[in-house]
Amino acid sequence: MAQATNGPGPAPTEEELSRARLRLVVRGPVAHVTISRPDRRNAMTGRTWTTLARVGRTLPEDVRIVVVDGDGDIFSAGIDLGMFSPEGVDGERSMVAGLADGTASDAEVRDYIAGLQEGFLWLRRPDLVTVAAVRGHAIGAGFQLALSCDLRILADDAQLCMKEPALGLVPDLTGTKPLVDIVGVNRAIEICLTARRVGAQEARDLGLAELVVPADELSAAVDDVVAALLATDRAAATATKALLQQAAGNTLRQQAEAERAAQAARLAALARATADGAR
Ligand code: ACO
Repeated sequence: MAQATNGPGPAPTEEELSRARLRLVVRGPVAHVTISRPDRRNAMTGRTWTTLARVGRTLPEDVRIVVVDGDGDIFSAGIDLGMFSPEGVDGERSMVAGLADGTASDAEVRDYIAGLQEGFLWLRRPDLVTVAAVRGHAIGAGFQLALSCDLRILADDAQLCMKEPALGLVPDLTGTKPLVDIVGVNRAIEICLTARRVGAQEARDLGLAELVVPADELSAAVDDVVAALLATDRAAATATKALLQQAAGNTLRQQAEAERAAQAARLAALARATADGAR
C-alpha cells in the first residue's frame, strides 16, 4: 500500500529525542517536554526545534496539556551559540555556513527558519493548553519558547531576556507577537532593544507570568494548575481557547458572532450527548 506523504510522520524515537536534547514523558492527558542539556545550560539547536515540531505533530490524541520545562536549575540559555560558527554543533550544519560560502539563498534561509518556527507554533493549538515552567534563565530562543506557551509559571529566580538584538539578530522564533500582545509595543521595544533581564516579579507585573512561586514549589504549582485545567471539559476548553485567541483580531460584533457560533456548536454537542445518554 502507498505510504501517505503529508501525514504527521513517525513520532521521534528515544534516540532522536536525545540527539535533539529533549525528553518527552506522556502520562495520559499530560505530556512533559523537557529541554535536557544541563552541561550547556539547556542550549538548543535547530534539531531541538525540528524535533519539537515532530513531537507536536505526533502527540497522542488524548494529550490535552503540555508542560515545557528545562533540566536542572535553568529553562534554557537559548540557541547554542555554536550554531553561528562555521562548524555548527555536533554535525548539525551551522546556520551561517551556507550564507558564508554562498550555497544558501535567501529563500532557503527563510525555509529553514520556517521549519524551526514549526517547533514553536504548535504550542498554540486550541486543543492543547501549554504551560511553560521556568526556573532560572530563559534567554533568547528560551524566552521565545516560554512565550509560545499559553501560561508561564515562573520560579522566583527566573530571568527572561530577549538577547537576539544584542547579538545582531532579531527574535524570529515566533516570540515577537506574544511579547507585544502581552506587554505592548513600547515595553517590548525596551525589553528587546536593551536585551536586559526581566526578573520574575517584574514578569508577573507585566503579565509575562501567570504565577510566580518559590523555586522549590515550582513543580507542585505546575501540578496544581494542570489538575485545575484537566477538570474542565476538553471540548469546551478547546472552543474557548479558539474564541479567546481570535478576540484581539476581531471587532466586538465579530467576536459576538464567533461566540454565537461556538456556543451553538457546544449546545448541539451537549444535546447529542444527552440524547445518546437517554437511549
Ligand atoms: N550556547 C552554547 N553553550 C552555552 C550557551 C549557549 N547559548 N550558554 C551556556 N553555554 C555553555 C557555556 O559555554 C559553558 O560551557 P563550558 O562549561 O564548556 O565553559 C556552560 O554552558 C555553562 O555556562 P556558564 O556561562 O558557565 O553558566 P552560568 O550559569 O554562569 O550562566 C547563562 C548561564 C547566563 C545562561 C550564560 O551561560 C549565558 O549567558 N549564556 C549565553 C546566552 C545566549 O547568549 N544565548 C543566545 C541568545 S539568542 C537566541 O537564543 C536566538
